[in-house]
Amino acid sequence: MFYSIAIDGPAGSGKSTVAKEVAKSLKYTYIDTGAMYRAITLKALNLGINNLAIEENYSFIYDTKLEFRNNLMFMDGVDVSKDIRTEKVVKNVSLVSSLKCVRDKLVIMQREMAKSDNVIMDGRDIGTNVLKDATLKVFLNAAIDVRALRRYYELKESGSDVTYDDTIIDIIRRDNFDSNRLHNPLKKADDAIELDTSLYTVEEVRDNIIKIFKELIRNE
Ligand code: DC
Repeated sequence: MFYSIAIDGPAGSGKSTVAKEVAKSLKYTYIDTGAMYRAITLKALNLGINNLAIEENYSFIYDTKLEFRNNLMFMDGVDVSKDIRTEKVVKNVSLVSSLKCVRDKLVIMQREMAKSDNVIMDGRDIGTNVLKDATLKVFLNAAIDVRALRRYYELKESGSDVTYDDTIIDIIRRDNFDSNRLHNPLKKADDAIELDTSLYTVEEVRDNIIKIFKELIRNE
């Protein structure tokens, strides 16, 4: 039997940073489901699918191979980790990830990945949908200005010339879209533990999650 930790939360809540750290400490496999939605968005853009009308052209998703190697996102054998972080992908990923045909396929892939390994998976619908039976479910949140500032520094570091105002507007737009879409919206699972990361360091949040997880499996 394998263990799984589901981490959900809005953009900038610290999910991926914390999830990576927890995975490193526990020697678990980290699965960044946001990267998978971004990769499909990149492929649709590269294929020039008109207005991203993927529903009429979705067979390409079935021919797409997605895998993680050393925390890098490989699509069809090519490392796309950098390309999936561009503004063009960010602007379109909410739309693409709201489509049922995209979600259906990626959720199957994600469940498959969790079958043969101990995993930490982060996203928006992991606790509510992908891994409903996860050993531990965590919902991370943080104040909107903290989330925007984190995202702003992250984008700056990767060489983007966005402003803080652009970043906060984009975060609000994406949160609204992700929380109100029809299929598997961003939502805290009833049995998830909610942690606000605004005032804590990555190490503090990591240690807290590991402590909760170890207590949970000790009492199993
Ligand atoms: O976590 P991120 O910013 O890399 O996610 C990119 C987009 O993908 C985000 O707008 C919401 C979507 N997403 C989703 O719908 N379901 C997931 N499990 C993960 C991400």
